[in-house]
Amino acid sequence: MSDRTMTRQVLLFISVLSLSSVHGQVSYSIPEEMAKGSLVGNIAQDLGLDIKRLKSGKARIYTGDSAEYIELNKERGVLLIKDRIDREALCGQTTPCAVHLQITLEDPIEFYSVTVEIHDINDNAPSFKKNEMKFRISESAMVGAKFVLERAMDLDVGVNGLQSYLLKPTDNFLLKLQNQPDGSKKVEMVLQKPLDREKQEHLFLTLTAIDGGDPPLSGTMQIEITVLDANDNAPVFTQEMYKATITENAAKGTVLSTVSASDADDGSNGRVSYSITNTLDDVPEIFEINEDSGIVVLSGHIDYEKARHYEIHVQASDDGGLSDSSKIIIDVIDVNDNSPIIIIMSKSSSIAEDSVSNTVIAMISVNDPDSDSNGQVHCGINENIPFTIKSTSNGFYSLVTDSDLDRERASEYNISVTCSDEGVPSLSSSVTLTLQISDVNDNAPVFERSSYEAYIIENNTPGLSIFTVKARDADWNQNARVSYILDDSSVNGVPVSSYVSVSAESGVIHAVRSFDYEQIKDFQFWVKAQDGGSPPLSSNVTVKIMIQDQNDNAPQVLYPVQTSSSLVAEMVPRSADVGYLVTKVVAVDVDSGQNAWLSYKLQKATDRALFEVGLQNGEIRTIRQVTDKDTVKQRLTVVVEDNGQPSRSATVNVNVAVADSFPEVLSEFTDFTHDKDYNDNLTFYLVLALAVVSFLFITCLVVIISVKIYRWRQSRVLYHSNLPVIPYYPPRYADTLGTGTLQHVYNYEVCRTTDSKKSDCKFVRPCSQNVLIMDPSSTGTMQRMQSEQNILDEPDSPLEVCYI
Ligand SMILES: *[C@@H]1O[C@H](CO)[C@@H](O)[C@H](O)[C@H]1NC(C)=O
Ligand SMILES: *[C@@H]1O[C@H](CO)[C@@H](O)[C@H](O)[C@H]1NC(C)=O
Repeated sequence: MSDRTMTRQVLLFISVLSLSSVHGQVSYSIPEEMAKGSLVGNIAQDLGLDIKRLKSGKARIYTGDSAEYIELNKERGVLLIKDRIDREALCGQTTPCAVHLQITLEDPIEFYSVTVEIHDINDNAPSFKKNEMKFRISESAMVGAKFVLERAMDLDVGVNGLQSYLLKPTDNFLLKLQNQPDGSKKVEMVLQKPLDREKQEHLFLTLTAIDGGDPPLSGTMQIEITVLDANDNAPVFTQEMYKATITENAAKGTVLSTVSASDADDGSNGRVSYSITNTLDDVPEIFEINEDSGIVVLSGHIDYEKARHYEIHVQASDDGGLSDSSKIIIDVIDVNDNSPIIIIMSKSSSIAEDSVSNTVIAMISVNDPDSDSNGQVHCGINENIPFTIKSTSNGFYSLVTDSDLDRERASEYNISVTCSDEGVPSLSSSVTLTLQISDVNDNAPVFERSSYEAYIIENNTPGLSIFTVKARDADWNQNARVSYILDDSSVNGVPVSSYVSVSAESGVIHAVRSFDYEQIKDFQFWVKAQDGGSPPLSSNVTVKIMIQDQNDNAPQVLYPVQTSSSLVAEMVPRSADVGYLVTKVVAVDVDSGQNAWLSYKLQKATDRALFEVGLQNGEIRTIRQVTDKDTVKQRLTVVVEDNGQPSRSATVNVNVAVADSFPEVLSEFTDFTHDKDYNDNLTFYLVLALAVVSFLFITCLVVIISVKIYRWRQSRVLYHSNLPVIPYYPPRYADTLGTGTLQHVYNYEVCRTTDSKKSDCKFVRPCSQNVLIMDPSSTGTMQRMQSEQNILDEPDSPLEVCYI
């Protein structure tokens, strides 16, 4: 305040000086905004007026139109501030600013001019019209872009007026002041660093206007900048690569993965949409991506066997056209959805039963498109068959035999090859091969029995079938076609083929000739069964043929010997007791068994009451005491009967003499005397027979020797040559039933010692020393006594017969 006062005083001094030269004029200088009543100047003193004069002169201040800021205090003769003086209101920007007063006095009228100059004080801060400004600036605004700011106003003038601006912060913008032609300044904000909405969407700056006062005053304005988005950010995937797995055959709609990209931009610039961009493969058909959510789902069929991996290229784009790409690597997980595939590369449909072990019958290839254990395949075949399967190399198998085959045991095999993989659950497939085992002739025919025995009743018709041998051959077809062959052997020196024949086809054994039990009771031969294989196999069996007896021989009485004249008699003394053994009828029957069981019966008797014949033993005994009345000459007829069906019999006459002495007998038996003729005849016949036999014997001998020599020379031609036919009649005897005769097989010698006038001995004996061979073609016939059959009529029955 003291400073001001000094300034005023200086001004006052100058005014006073001028006042003295001009008519009453004074100037003052005061700062504005002085308090009411503040002293402006001692006008009385400065004008050199007396206070009394002021009073008397009714001094007044005249201000014209302007308001009265200053009043005159007449008592003190000073000018005082009457009202607050605001320089800015009074003068605005005009400088200097002064208030002009006139002081008028009456009596005399005096007139004084007072000029009060008003000094500016810094009483106004710079100010903005609005305290806030808003800008919307795109983040893409170029560096250097200018934005005009509002200017500040400061009512003060001079140094107190607006001096400078300050913009804070200065990260993005600088303040630039530009002088205008009218002296004012244009305030601009210049972008010096690009904006980034993504970093800072709103910027708040403060513009400060500062004046030059002391102390300086300032005014501020807030600048709010909203950074507008520009599509300056591409979407960015959260990962460079996504990974996902999916099992094959997964259902459509299965979610694989979700990709996500972010875009820092705003609004549509930041709206991301996803798409799949694969073009070369079929990925777009198999996968689908949700445009908005980025969820990748399966839309097609996944087959591990076709593709094990997928690479999905995904793109995220914003609406502004910026994009980012990423990929999803999809690994397909195998599912055991493929059964092994079995392919038969080659196979044989049949093999021989004698094939060696390890013979390959089929080659098989197996593959399973699945992976790992799902594709690991094991093959096997059904059990209990003589085959095995071997893995030869990867995926290849061979089916081989592993033990011996036998068509007779199994002629066909169904081999099921089953291959399974190791998946869980395991899948399998199988094929069946049918293998035929072809026959090899490895089985000989086998007869149903180890030996055969058959019976045939003698006197059969030639050609009669006796029985059948049967052999079976386990082989097949030709190898099993059995033919029967009679093995060449001989029975009693005769080829067996003259006894029997075998039908090659049927095995029926036929009798070739009629058999005579009394000649041959049984014989044995071999029959061979041979199959049709090559080489053929055969086996043989013994066949024993037993000939059964027929009652074809009548009993033959050996004793008593029958003669035409009954000279022979048994003596029974008259003293003989009951049961006296008179004689015994001895008979034989060449048949056998029942047919030779003989029984004896008394057929006729002179006195039936005197004798009986033992049924079994043929003993003739007395059955009562012989009396004198009984005639000397008794004649009994005994019938000897065999037990055959029908039975055959022979009768024998037994002469019995009941006498005590021989003469008595003689006298009685005069009619028993020999007939001389008979005796002579008998002698003659005996001599003749002896001669004939001797002749035949010698002839036989000669023939045999010739034959032997002939055979020795051409032994092989024997049967083809025509031997001289030698009709031969064995010295057999015709017998009547009434006489006891012996057959050749028996050799009896019966001699009567008592009454040996006659020699009734017969020798009948089979001969084996001498053999007579007869040519089959010979027409020789031979009469057989026992059977009325002519065996030599049979054309192909060579017969060896020898009798003496
Ligand atoms: C093999 O299979 C065929 C056809 O299925 C059948 O007829 C035949 O009897 C079978 N063979 C064997 C030995 O099982
Ligand atoms: C019959 O077969 C046996 C072996 O079974 C053999 O020893 C015999 O010699 C054969 N006989 C004939 C006559 O073939």
